[in-house]
Amino acid sequence: MKSSISTKPLASVETPLLALIVAQGTPPTIDPSVERAVATGDYKGKKDDTLLVYGGGKAQRILLVGVGKAAEITRSAVRRAAAIAAKRARGLGTKTLSVAIARDARGGLGAAELAQVVIEGAAQGSWQFTELKKQPEDPKPDVEAVELVVESGDKDEAEAGRRIGDAIAAGYLFTRNLQMQPGNVCTPSYLADQAKQLAATHGFSITVLDKAQIKKEGMGALLAVAQGSAEEPRFIVLEYQGGGGNVAPVALIGKGVTFDSGGISIKPAQNMEDMKFDKSGATAVLGTFEVLGRLKPKINVVGLIPATENLPSGTAIKPGDVVKSHLGKTIEIINTDAEGRLILCDALSYARRFKPAAAIDAATLTGAVVVALGHHAIGMLGNDEALLAEVRDAGERAGERCWPLPLWDEYRDLLKSDVADVKNSGGRAAGTIAGAWFLREFVDSFPWVHLDIAGTAYLEGEGASHAKGPTAIGVRLFTEFLLKRAGA
Ligand code: BES
Ligand code: MN
Ligand code: ZN
Repeated sequence: MKSSISTKPLASVETPLLALIVAQGTPPTIDPSVERAVATGDYKGKKDDTLLVYGGGKAQRILLVGVGKAAEITRSAVRRAAAIAAKRARGLGTKTLSVAIARDARGGLGAAELAQVVIEGAAQGSWQFTELKKQPEDPKPDVEAVELVVESGDKDEAEAGRRIGDAIAAGYLFTRNLQMQPGNVCTPSYLADQAKQLAATHGFSITVLDKAQIKKEGMGALLAVAQGSAEEPRFIVLEYQGGGGNVAPVALIGKGVTFDSGGISIKPAQNMEDMKFDKSGATAVLGTFEVLGRLKPKINVVGLIPATENLPSGTAIKPGDVVKSHLGKTIEIINTDAEGRLILCDALSYARRFKPAAAIDAATLTGAVVVALGHHAIGMLGNDEALLAEVRDAGERAGERCWPLPLWDEYRDLLKSDVADVKNSGGRAAGTIAGAWFLREFVDSFPWVHLDIAGTAYLEGEGASHAKGPTAIGVRLFTEFLLKRAGA
């Protein structure tokens, strides 16, 4: 999707669709047809309310999008309004979309932020995935371009925000499309190929360990999950160096289970197809590298992705098996469906060699986080209060909100094993916390935050601002976090 900034007066913008983001109670005077519609009382401009009119001006269509009360407007609200507009453009089949934000609908946000979040929202709302259909039932063209109309004094700032918005949109779309790929396409080696392509495009360093090398490295927990599958595992290491030689990197770690059947502790058939989304942590890391390659911020980042399938077979791990992790701790497998923590623990242990300034992992780790927080918040746990606060702030700016759960010592007891150093499941109680505690057992002394994205990585129903399916959660959060750290 291309973007541009225009400083034309609204009345002279020639476009198939002009979306005007408006605050509640203050409808704009843009066209007599809008004024007539508002006068009927049909349109009150509440949050998410839209009104499509065919006016007499240069714009073929005008779409009012309510962003809520003027005093309550945030980046997320504007992003959402832009997404609603873009989703409508997609539905109408217009190839381009112009967006303007009424003056009192800017919520005190700067022109740069506004441009950034409008582009993010446009990428979100216009998304469609037809790659695997021979003939889409209702073929609609992609929304190819979004034009943001601003006042001329805001032009330079808006251009700066557009640069960031464009990069985030590209990473976001990369991730969302990759999430969508089914398990028979997106295998561990396919993920590794995607990482290699990113590295080639942007000049990152990359190391991909194959099964033999993973074995040599001693990643017994990752290997244990992979042993039931005919597809070989991969361990992907991507390095972006924008911060200079000796500066400690931020490590981003993503769970890359390309399909999670549960293994011998097999899942019910209902909705099992959604377990192609169990690679969403990995795809968020990859999408973030796409953003890094475009923006080149002054920071060092290492991306670590353990990638495998989790399948039952005659060679699969069994409940009761004990395996030895990369760190050396032994793990009793209670439930083969608690596989995410097994592959992540080896990645966290591998991360030690980078002496990271901070490590953040993203993983569709537990069904329990869906019970706790539903689909509106990422479950967030970690060992460092300052880093937790920093991640939470980044999530707020990104519209990918995180909510903390406690990692108190008492919960550690859930994972006591009779035979090994730790077991991989503590049963039903405090499932998300137990998962995080398991990971913590493998975190060295570096500051670390775990993001449980099982409830937010994909949506089961169609929403006003978001199509059903993958969300690319994590890309915007990681980017906000890294840009702030880089001082950008
Ligand atoms: N990938 C699942 C978690 C998940 C559930 C993701 C729902 C997305 C939606 C994970 O590997 C898993 O199966 N976790 C188990 C852990 C349990 C056995 C301790 C779970 O949550 O049931
Ligand atoms: Mn599982
Ligand atoms: Zn899983």
